[in-house]
Amino acid sequence: MKTKILKYLKDSGDYVSGQQLSKMLNVSRNAIWKSINSLKNDGYIIDSVTNKGYKLISVPDILTESEIKSGLKTRRIGNEIIALQQVDSTNEEIKRRAKQGAPHGLVCTAEEQTIGKGRLGRTWVSPPGEGIWVSVLLRLPVSPAEVSGITLAAGLAVCKAVTNVTGLSAKIKWPNDVLIDNKKVCGILTEMAAELDAVDYLVCGIGINANNKSFPDDIAHKATSIYLQLGKEINRSELLRELLYLLELYTDEFAADAAAEFLEEYKSLCVTLGRQVTVTRGGKAVQGTAADVTKSGALIVTGENGERLEITSGEVTVQGIY
Ligand code: BTN
Repeated sequence: MKTKILKYLKDSGDYVSGQQLSKMLNVSRNAIWKSINSLKNDGYIIDSVTNKGYKLISVPDILTESEIKSGLKTRRIGNEIIALQQVDSTNEEIKRRAKQGAPHGLVCTAEEQTIGKGRLGRTWVSPPGEGIWVSVLLRLPVSPAEVSGITLAAGLAVCKAVTNVTGLSAKIKWPNDVLIDNKKVCGILTEMAAELDAVDYLVCGIGINANNKSFPDDIAHKATSIYLQLGKEINRSELLRELLYLLELYTDEFAADAAAEFLEEYKSLCVTLGRQVTVTRGGKAVQGTAADVTKSGALIVTGENGERLEITSGEVTVQGIY
């Protein structure tokens, strides 16, 4: 109900009478009044004028189910949303729910993660209220070998969502770190439960440094936030809605056709291509030039002796980038 009222108020941009709302939603005016009060408690500023109704004056920067859903353009992702205040890790929460049979598209956000997880066993700094810490449950018809393609799709979705909403020029470091001004603004951790030949489910965990004002000393030189780049705070739910929309677009496209068209767009935004890279695999470092990204998501590196290396995992350091 709160979601629907919010949508009406946002769409109208003007006063909407309690009577109109109660007619449209088929509930009593008292029920409308209660929901309006609950929205005010959440931090929405709503002007109430006798004989005119309610007008939305401002929207708080909170990630609630109603706020994320109002104006969400997806078909399946976000039909169910769990918006938590605090959790160990949104990826872990989605895994717990997936094991109980939760549906494709379940979204979990948290204002704060106490054990935010990064790639390669690292931790992900997730302070309260500043970032977008979100995980999405994907039950898509893809094989384990195709999962790398999904991670590229997720990277492209974040990159484009950031640019569409903020106007900032975001780029991708293979496979899916998103950078602004050569510093990391987003990291993605994709985890899967699979049999040998079939994926049961994927958890796509996305951490966007949105309104972070500073970073711990050890990562300050390589991390940035949208706030630091833009000089002002952004509305996190607006960015999240755009991200979920694009994530659905690209992952559905990939699941329907692994030769997805988005690969060309991905490559045009990938700063790794054409650069000197060092690949660390099994404790050994190999140097070369990043030449291409394949349909299955591998990075092709031309080694110093002209050999062709296909990199599917491990750590890649790109010259000139943090
Ligand atoms: C990386 O190391 O670059 C990946 C970072 C992924 C962080 C996100 S935040 C939401 C989700 N929950 C987690 O515990 N990790 C991911």
